Amino acid sequence: MSGFSAEWLALRERYDLCARDPIVLDAVAARFQSQDAISVVDLACGAGSTVRALSSRLPARQRWDLVDNDRRLLTLACSGKFSGDVRLNAIPLDLSGHFEATLDGTKNLITISAVLDLVSENWLDRFTQHVAARALPLYAALTYDGRIDLHPADPLDAAITSSVNAHQRTDKGFGPALGPSASAAAIARFEARGYRVAHGKSDWVIGAADQDIQVELLAGWAAAASEVEALPCRDIGNWLVRRKDAVRERVSTMRVGHVDFFATPSITR
Ligand SMILES: C[S@@+](CC[C@H](N)C(=O)[O-])C[C@H]1O[C@@H](n2cnc3c(N)ncnc32)[C@H](O)[C@@H]1O
Repeated sequence: MSGFSAEWLALRERYDLCARDPIVLDAVAARFQSQDAISVVDLACGAGSTVRALSSRLPARQRWDLVDNDRRLLTLACSGKFSGDVRLNAIPLDLSGHFEATLDGTKNLITISAVLDLVSENWLDRFTQHVAARALPLYAALTYDGRIDLHPADPLDAAITSSVNAHQRTDKGFGPALGPSASAAAIARFEARGYRVAHGKSDWVIGAADQDIQVELLAGWAAAASEVEALPCRDIGNWLVRRKDAVRERVSTMRVGHVDFFATPSITR
């Protein structure tokens, strides 16, 4: 499964849903509870996981602009069925270029999930500036923060995690990626612009019975570590065998660190 394939996004959605920080979600819901309609733009929407996670907590009349550069994912995202008056509008766009127009119009909320760790410092600066200039609230969920805890522990875990995090900082289409420092960088930028930011951890908690996602994660981490070339291939291969054995024996558990935040401007439009 590739990093953004529909199959991978479907596999991870259940863990994303459990992981989303409830206090941050409550803050998003509270902000709009007195409205009867809302217009949202979901950036890099994938197959529509954020609409499914958030829709029931927002005003009944919703319009979502769903933005992604993958038309297959956009079609999936727009095929979702929701109770109430929920309208979904697909916008195919490469967000590494000009994205400003997607923030214009009568938007009330921007959402972005599992994406900020892919972007560069320059992109984040541009994004923060455009969001703040429009005084828009931002719900940013599931940004990877560099923590990978694996049980039972293996002597190579720390070195693999370090290689994975080095790979996270390579270019993902937006310039050198912020990777594990993305959420802290974004929160600091919004606070510097006078936003109030509610934040919390949204770690994936993966049990011994969750074998499919464990196998996918381990394969992805081994591939990322190989690309970075900081460890001998044979060591990475042997680590993968040991970890997969633990998964097969149903003794392997994982915690993968993420951060959610909701940034709200002090002025309202
Ligand atoms: C990890 S997925 C997250 C998808 C979704 N937000 C979710 O939470 O399930 C990253 C998403 O970013 C999109 N993406 C990556 N680079 C992009 C770009 N340059 N422009 C627009 N979308 C992009 C991918 O197509 C994918 O849908």
